[in-house]
Amino acid sequence: MRRVVLALMLSLALVVAGAAPALAQNSPVEIVNWWTAGGEEDALIALFEVFRDQHPEFEPISSAVAGGAGTDAKAVMITRLVGGNPPDSFQVHGGAELFHSYVDPGFMQPVTHLLEEWDVVDDFNPEILDLVRGEDGEIYSVPLNIHRSNVMWTNQRILEEHGLEAPETIEEMFDVFEALEEAGVTPLALGDLNRWPTLHLFENLMLATMGPEDYNALWDGTVTFDHEGLREALELLDQALEYVNPDHAALDWQGAAELLVEDEAVFNVMGDWAEGYFRAVGWEPLEDYGWTTVPGTEGNFMVVTDTFGLPEGISNPEGARAWLQTVASREGQDAFNPIKGSIPARIDPDVERYSIYLQSSIEDFAQDNLTPSIAHGSAAPEGFVSEFEDILNEFVTVRDVDHTLDRMQTIAGEYLN
Ligand code: BGC
Repeated sequence: MRRVVLALMLSLALVVAGAAPALAQNSPVEIVNWWTAGGEEDALIALFEVFRDQHPEFEPISSAVAGGAGTDAKAVMITRLVGGNPPDSFQVHGGAELFHSYVDPGFMQPVTHLLEEWDVVDDFNPEILDLVRGEDGEIYSVPLNIHRSNVMWTNQRILEEHGLEAPETIEEMFDVFEALEEAGVTPLALGDLNRWPTLHLFENLMLATMGPEDYNALWDGTVTFDHEGLREALELLDQALEYVNPDHAALDWQGAAELLVEDEAVFNVMGDWAEGYFRAVGWEPLEDYGWTTVPGTEGNFMVVTDTFGLPEGISNPEGARAWLQTVASREGQDAFNPIKGSIPARIDPDVERYSIYLQSSIEDFAQDNLTPSIAHGSAAPEGFVSEFEDILNEFVTVRDVDHTLDRMQTIAGEYLN
């Protein structure tokens, strides 16, 4: 109590003496994000540490809205922006999500001049900058990382116990699934409580059946949703669903990854934030967990990128700019990404700080075909993504390929033309 009174007297004295008001010190910078899982939150804390070191006059405040892939955070953001109550900065996927939901309706300020002032434009991967650059040539948010969607994680112990190896082709995948099923082990962990993990799995099957060129051409309308690869991908999904855990509808993505950790399932198709989670629970690469590209997608990299922008009408513009400078910095990216399970959006990482998996991801990103994730906002507008998720979740229960294809073609016509 005495300390509080003393602090109050001190700040009063400072104000009376005309010194900077106490509030100018450590002024809060509110950052909306959805990083609440193991690995995710630790990574954000590490980034905040760099922010405090680089800009001690500001204090980051995390407004985290739980729900993988931003399920709930995206809704909160729209409500806040429409209501004129923006946070100082917020997590947003580069690509269609950024532009359709936020830039086009006029909620965002460009950040090109800031990146130029800090002389960092050329430090970013140009392909990732393309996902945050508008048709007017302006950059609208700062990419922090690159996640990969097309990874199949493995429980190494169970594989070894059964003398099996991670499959490379789709045919091998179903052979391994069958062998595990016969041995009484759940082959594929799925947690589709929040709907998007089914789409996450499906987008990778689409990439496998359509190939990168046709998959990419879906988003500019040069390939349409009557492509034969979509039917094949649905048939593969139908087959894969025979091998998932029966409680999939009750689990979120982390719950599904946990099935591997608990030795209750062998494979999980999930973005590499799962690596952040495995490491957070003390799992060791190659000993406890392994990885392979989703069978049929070798040589391709399904891209997910988390970025931060500068909303209009914010309460702490200087704090927001300082935050973005940390997000854009090599120190910030190298503190955050090794813990998060992502690679930096910059081209100059301190590679030694990254796990053996992430080092392989850095190499793959440089040489693979890049394809934008649907489930994580880069390929298509939010309205399409949300309806696509609904359609796939209906498919999980009804399993009607023709009906599902019809519905997909209808929403493609509505949102993508
Ligand atoms: C985000 C990741 C996050 C994952 C699970 C993805 O959409 O890009 O940063 O870890 O969702 O929440």
